[in-house]
Amino acid sequence: MVFKERILLGLISALVAGGGLLGCADQVENQVADQQGESVHPHWPVLTSGIAKDPEIESRIDALLAKMSLEEKIGQMIQVEIRFATPDEVRDYHIGSILNGGGAFPNNNKHASVADWVALADEYYRASVDTRDGGVAIPMIWGTDAVHGHNNVIGATLFPHNIALGAAQNPALMRKIGEATAAEVSATGIEWVFAPTLAVVRDDRWGRTYESYSEDPELVRAYAGELVQGMQGAPGDQEILNGKRVVSTAKHYIADGGTENGIDRGDAIMSEEDLIKYHAQGYFSAIEAGVQTVMASFSSWNGEKLHGHKYLMTDVLKERLGFDGFVVGDWAGHQFVNGCSNVSCPQAINAGLDMFMAPDPNWRELYKNTLAEAKSGEISPARLDDAVRRILRVKLRAGLFEAGLPSARPFAGDESLIGAAEHRAIARQAVRESLVLLKNNDQLLPLARNQRVLVAGDGADNIGKQSGGWSITWQGTGNENADFPGATSVYGGINEVVTAAGGQVELSADGSFEEKPDVAVVVFGEDPYAEMQGDIANVNYAGASDLALLKKLRDQGIPVVSLFITGRPLWVNPHINASDAFAVIWLPGTEAGGVADVLFRDEAGNVNFDFTGKLTFSWPGDATPALHNRGESEAVAQFAYGYGLSYEEGMELTLLSEESGLQPVSGSGTLAVFNGRALDPWRFEVIDATNTRSTIASSVSELNGIRVQSVDRNVQEDSRRLQWNGQGNAIAGFFANQRTDLSGFVSNQGALIFDVKVDAAPSDAVILGMNCGMDCGAEQPITDLLKGVAQGKWQTLAVDLKCLAEAGGKMDLVLSPFYVRTAGELDMTVHNVRIAQTDTAKVSCG
Ligand code: BGC
Ligand code: BGC
Repeated sequence: MVFKERILLGLISALVAGGGLLGCADQVENQVADQQGESVHPHWPVLTSGIAKDPEIESRIDALLAKMSLEEKIGQMIQVEIRFATPDEVRDYHIGSILNGGGAFPNNNKHASVADWVALADEYYRASVDTRDGGVAIPMIWGTDAVHGHNNVIGATLFPHNIALGAAQNPALMRKIGEATAAEVSATGIEWVFAPTLAVVRDDRWGRTYESYSEDPELVRAYAGELVQGMQGAPGDQEILNGKRVVSTAKHYIADGGTENGIDRGDAIMSEEDLIKYHAQGYFSAIEAGVQTVMASFSSWNGEKLHGHKYLMTDVLKERLGFDGFVVGDWAGHQFVNGCSNVSCPQAINAGLDMFMAPDPNWRELYKNTLAEAKSGEISPARLDDAVRRILRVKLRAGLFEAGLPSARPFAGDESLIGAAEHRAIARQAVRESLVLLKNNDQLLPLARNQRVLVAGDGADNIGKQSGGWSITWQGTGNENADFPGATSVYGGINEVVTAAGGQVELSADGSFEEKPDVAVVVFGEDPYAEMQGDIANVNYAGASDLALLKKLRDQGIPVVSLFITGRPLWVNPHINASDAFAVIWLPGTEAGGVADVLFRDEAGNVNFDFTGKLTFSWPGDATPALHNRGESEAVAQFAYGYGLSYEEGMELTLLSEESGLQPVSGSGTLAVFNGRALDPWRFEVIDATNTRSTIASSVSELNGIRVQSVDRNVQEDSRRLQWNGQGNAIAGFFANQRTDLSGFVSNQGALIFDVKVDAAPSDAVILGMNCGMDCGAEQPITDLLKGVAQGKWQTLAVDLKCLAEAGGKMDLVLSPFYVRTAGELDMTVHNVRIAQTDTAKVSCG
C-alpha cells in the first residue's frame, strides 16, 4: 500500500520537477530513485530515517547548489587520503572530504600528538573554505576508521573488537562505547567515523570475522542502532559537532560477511530473501537510528559488485529504506565494477554511489574524468545534484558550517579525552563481559590471588597481539607495548591483583620458571591481521608450540588455565584437552585488566565478576571449512551458539575429539586445471582492457583488448586461442570462488605445466601469475620464453611452483593457479593446464 503511494508521489513530483517549477530535495530524490522502484522485493521494509528532513536545511542546500560550479560539485564527491593530497589541492579541487586510512597519521608520524591531529584538521578545513577563486565555502569532512576506539591514535582507548562485544550481549554498553569513541575522535578535530561494521559473518575463514558482532543477524540488528546513536547522538540531537559527537557509517553495504568461502571482497551468492534475512538487518536499525553515511562493500552480490549496484544502492537503500544521507565508496572499490578503472567510474555514480573514496595518487585523474563525464551527460545533472545534495545535507545536519575551525570546537585538542579513565572503564567492563569460558574442570577457576602464578605464552604481555588488526597500524603489526601508553596487558592486570594480595607472579613467555607455580595462566593465539591478509583456508589453529607448552606445564603437575586470543572461532580441541580451564578472550584491546577481574576472587574470597560472555559464533568441532551457523547448518558445532560456562553453572568437559578432519595436502599426482574445459572449481575468465570481468562460455568472444576462441588440437575445442590486440591490458586465466591448497606440491617438485602454441610473438611484456585474493599473488614474466619458442609449434612449459611461492604467492590459498596478462599483442593457444610433479626442465624463476 504504502509502496504504491510512493510510486505515485514520485511520478507526480517528477512531473512537477519536469515542468521546471520546483527543484527541491524530495522531488529530485524520488525522480532519481523511482525509476526502478517497482521491482523492489516485498521483504524489504519501508523505513524512515531517525533524522527527519529539515525544510530549512533543504532550502540552504538549494541555495548552495544554485551557486556551485560543476567543478565544485565534483570536488564534493571525491574523498582523498591525507598521504596523497595536500591542503592546497583540497582547496584547488574543492575536495569535499578527506580520510586517513588504517595506519595513516599526520606527518606520517605514528606518534603524532593530539595537537598534530587538530592542526592537520585545521589546515584541511581552512583549505576547504578558502574561496579565493570566488567559489562557495563548503567545509570538508574528515573520516577515520575508529573501529574499536580511535585506533589510529597513540594513547587512545582500544575497545575489544566487535566479535568480543558480541559475546557481551549488551546493547546498552554499545551506546556507551559509541559515545566514548566519538569523544576521543572529537578531541582530534575529526568529525566522521567509518563504523560500525554490520557484517553478519557466515564463514569464519574471512579475515574480517572479528569485525562482526555475530553470525546471527538478530544481535547485529540490536547493536547497530545503539552504536549509531552513541556516536551521533539521539535523532533529536542533530547538532552533531556541538558536543562530543561524530557522524557514523554503516558498513560495508551489503553482505560483506556473506561471501562464498569467506573470501575478502568476494561474491555473496544467495537469494534476495536470504540477503534481507541475514545481511540487511543491521542496516534497518542503523537507518532508524539516523545513520548518516553508508559505505559500499568491495564485495559482490550474485556476481555484481556493490559499488555498481543500482538496485541495492538506489532502489532499495535510498528509496525503500528511506536512507537520505550519502553513500561513500570503499578504498578505490569503484575500480572493480565492470567497465570501470580506478580513475573513471560513472557507472558507480549512476548506480547511486555519492562519494568516491579515492585514496591513491590517481584521484586527480578520477576528478578530471568524472568532471568530463558530468559535462558529457554520462552522469546526469539530476544524479549529480542528488549526490551533492546528500553530502551537503549530512554536513549541514552535522553542524559543520557553524562549527568553524576544528581547533575552535569545544572538545578539539582536549588531550584528557584520549584514553580518559572513564572510557577505559567502559572498555574494561566490555572485556569482562566478553570473555567466554569453554572449560573449567575441577572448578579450577576462579583463582585465589594469594598464590604463586606463572603467566606464560607469547600473548601474555603483548598489547599489540591482544589488540589485533586496526590498532595503530592497519594490520596491527609492528607495534610494541610502548606504543600503547596507559594500556594494560593480560599479564599487567594479573600482576596487579596478585601482588597486591601478597601472591607472586612470574612472567615467562616460554613457560620456564624459577620456582614451581601453583597455577599457570597461558595466553596464546592468533597474531594480528586485517582484511584480506587474514583470510584462511580452514579453521585450524595450528599453534604447535603453544600446545607443547601446555603439555609441558601439565606434565609437571601444574594446573593450566588457557586464555585464547583470537579473532574468530578456530579448532583448538588439542589445546582445550591440554588445559584444565580454557577461556576465549578474543581481542580485548588496551584494557585487558578486565581479564584478571574475572579470573580471580577478591581478597576476601568473593567472586565479584563471573563469566557472562556467550558465543555469538558457533565454535567448530573440527578444522574443516564446513559452515557452522546458528539455526542453519548441518555441521555439528563443538560449542553451539550461546554456549559459555559461568562459575555458578559449571560442568566437567570430557576429552574432545582430536581428529581435525583435514586431509593432508597431497603433493603428488596431477591436478588438472583445464583439460578441454575448466575443471571444478575453476572457471575460464577474462578481465578485458576495460576491466570488465566475464566468464567465458561461448566458443568465440570478442572483448576489449582480447579475443578468445575455443579451437581444436587433438579433439574438438580442447584448447583456447588467446589473441591480444595491444589495446590495453587484458587478463585471461582460470579463477575460482574457493581456495585450493597447493602447498604439498611446492615441496614436492611441483610445477604449473601447460602446453602452448605461439602464433604471433609478444610485442610487450607478458606476465604469468597466480592469485590468492586481493593484494595476494605472485607473477613472473614469460615474455622471453614466448619469444624464444618456435612459432606454430606445440610446446610444454613448466613453471616451478617454488618460484611463485618465493615471489609471495600463498600456495595454500590459491584462487587462480594460472593467468596470463599483457597490454601488447600476442597470439597464443593454451592446452591442458595442470599442476604436477615434473623432472622436465622448468622455467627459471623470473
Ligand atoms: C591503508 C588502509 C586500507 C587498505 C586497503 C592500506 O594501505 O592504510 O587504510 O584499508 O590499504 O587496502
Ligand atoms: C576497508 C574499510 C575502511 C577503509 C578506509 C578499506 O580497505 O575495507 O573498512 O573503512 O579501508 O581505511
